[in-house]
Amino acid sequence: MPNPSPARMHDFEVISNEKIADGIFSLVISAPRLARALKPGQFVNIRVPGDAFELLRIPLSYVSADPEHGTVEIWYAVVGNATRRMSAWTPGATSDLLGPGGHGWTAPEGTKRALVVGGGIGVPPVLCLARDLMERGIAVDACIGAATADKLVGVEDFKALGCENVCVATDDGTAGEHGFCTDSASRLLATGAYDYVATCGPGVMMHEVADAAAAAGVACEASLERMMSCGFGACSTCNVETTDGMQGACMCGPVFDATKVVVW
Ligand SMILES: Cc1cc2nc3c(=O)[nH]c(=O)nc-3n(C[C@H](O)[C@H](O)[C@H](O)COP(=O)(O)OP(=O)(O)OC[C@H]3O[C@@H](n4cnc5c(N)ncnc54)[C@H](O)[C@@H]3O)c2cc1C
Ligand code: FES
Repeated sequence: MPNPSPARMHDFEVISNEKIADGIFSLVISAPRLARALKPGQFVNIRVPGDAFELLRIPLSYVSADPEHGTVEIWYAVVGNATRRMSAWTPGATSDLLGPGGHGWTAPEGTKRALVVGGGIGVPPVLCLARDLMERGIAVDACIGAATADKLVGVEDFKALGCENVCVATDDGTAGEHGFCTDSASRLLATGAYDYVATCGPGVMMHEVADAAAAAGVACEASLERMMSCGFGACSTCNVETTDGMQGACMCGPVFDATKVVVW
């Protein structure tokens, strides 16, 4: 693993914490040094106080950072104890985090058009990337999927960025296409219009996107989710099996070259 970790400890204060979809919240925190340091695709490891038996921090990606105002926005799904406690945070609450963690997206030099594919709560890191690419003059299209319309996030944000194609799919057909966002991603990739694909979401979805990208001869990166105990390279709980051997997602990832991932 690369050493040392780029992560440092940051105190933060909650600015807002609002529900944006079914079971999904947007958290805005004030953490000026962190806001200046984060790069798209990196994550933070947050301490969620309130349970003396929970020693571990929780890893979360960020969706945007505002260096001028010193704020960072995170979207999180309520899935267990820590995220449930987070959902009760009100403005003024304080805690600390370790960050930035890992390394982010690396679109190839000369990329002219990129496709981002996000499933469920995998949307935040690809939305963050899309904003960065568009600021650098690279065209971006997006394919977004969720289980139901109630759980969809990011559609309006991709449109507001100016993405030409924003394809939506839901498992139950309550919004967009009935099915998976991998279908529209495969269709778009088959047009041959892209130099780069970035994906984050369930492993099976990313695997399918990686296969479609490989078939189209397009570079593909995927942001992998693993359990993380330390978040800075000390414990190996986050190992990913790659063609280069086991690599820790917290330091060598979470973004990986999709052609190197063996176990999604
Ligand atoms: C690099 C990275 C970035 C992430 N970014 C986001 C994000 O932007 N938004 C978001 O909502 N979630 C994100 N996650 C997942 C998030 O860390 C877990 O949902 C969170 O730790 C659950 O904590 P909990 O105490 O509420 O749930 P727990 O009670 O600990 O677990 C509830 C369920 O979530 C699973 N889980 C717990 N921790 C993880 C983990 N680290 N990775 C995968 N599954 C886990 C458990 O197996 C269990 O099924 C990210 C994970 C990683 C590794
Ligand atoms: S989380 Fe401990 S090594 Fe990656």
